[in-house]
Amino acid sequence: MSAAVLCLPDAERLAERLRQRLDAAPASLAIHRFPDGERCVRITGDVAGRAVVLVAALDRPEEKLLPLLFAAATARDLGAATIGLVAPYLPYLRQDRRFHPGEGVSARYFARLLSRAVDWVVTVDPHLHRIGDLGEIFTVPVTVVHAAPLLADWIRARVPRPLLLGPDAESAQWVEAIASLAGAPSALLAKRRLGDAAVEVTLPDLGAYAGRHPVLVDDIVSSGRTMIEAIRLLRESGWPAPVCLAVHPVFAPGAYGAIRAAGAEPIVTCNTLSHPTNGIDVDELVAAAVLGRLDLPARGASVVQDALGWIVQVVELAAASRVEEEPREDAAQHQGDREQEEDRVHAAALRTDASTREAPQITTPLESGISTAATSGPTSPAAAAPTASTL
Ligand code: R5P
Repeated sequence: MSAAVLCLPDAERLAERLRQRLDAAPASLAIHRFPDGERCVRITGDVAGRAVVLVAALDRPEEKLLPLLFAAATARDLGAATIGLVAPYLPYLRQDRRFHPGEGVSARYFARLLSRAVDWVVTVDPHLHRIGDLGEIFTVPVTVVHAAPLLADWIRARVPRPLLLGPDAESAQWVEAIASLAGAPSALLAKRRLGDAAVEVTLPDLGAYAGRHPVLVDDIVSSGRTMIEAIRLLRESGWPAPVCLAVHPVFAPGAYGAIRAAGAEPIVTCNTLSHPTNGIDVDELVAAAVLGRLDLPARGASVVQDALGWIVQVVELAAASRVEEEPREDAAQHQGDREQEEDRVHAAALRTDASTREAPQITTPLESGISTAATSGPTSPAAAAPTASTL
């Protein structure tokens, strides 16, 4: 029986691509918005007994999450055999710790919420830092697509003598992988976040790379301040206008224009979210990951939950979180605190002589662009899934 692909807002292109690749059954999702702002979802087409694939663009997640949960609940009520979520960008992962007393650890709550709504997830390069693997926070199987091979191809084809630069310590995981695949050297900048839209960036000694073309690579562009400060420093130090690459073009209002004005030449992103900068197509890798997931056995109907139940669970999950509180004494701005630990890590990781940086060991899953986060839990049909994400 063929799968049904249901599209949530802003995910039309990928949903259509998946419909074609899966030869999907005719089915669609409509979201009606009442005058008071509440929404009602409606599925047309027969999803009973089918694998249902929900495709979502989860930037600006506050307004998109409830329709997603309601769509999953409706599909379950209508008899779907399994429900999968394709969300190339997973939000909330940067809030992976309690930075201030009383703060919520959004990454864990969000993962648990999704784990109760769907049977599997496919995503692209999740922001993993203090949480090392999505299997730590999801209780359903997650397939991670790595954009590194595509970014490396893009660089190899367009940038002569590139020097890959990561704007902060945590970017090492993808910058070094891409550099290795592209056969180029890499170095890391140091970043200290002072606030939601204020960062301080410093350059290492890049003297050994004179004559190369700088390529800034980050996973997420949000306020754009990280890219802007890195561009400014490079230009002030006499480097040519850097090529700026990012996986997830989240772009807060005004960010895109500000990065362009700062001198990015050009700025190119993966199409994990639709944006004019999309120049690297991850759809085929995502489709391959979805095809892999659809081989999984169906989950039983006993997990049907109504939408109200999910809302209650969010509160319960927050209360029941086992995350240890790590109180902070200072009262610096929220996101500044979040990244201060990253700065300390970076101080250890930054090598002023970047020429000595070793190439990372690239595993087969990364080379293929796909890896599987092994997960456990009573509802996971792939609890013994073999390979952990390596990027
Ligand atoms: C940091 O943790 C991330 O990898 C990105 O560097 C960060 O999210 C970029 O944020 P912004 O565009 O707001 O500087």
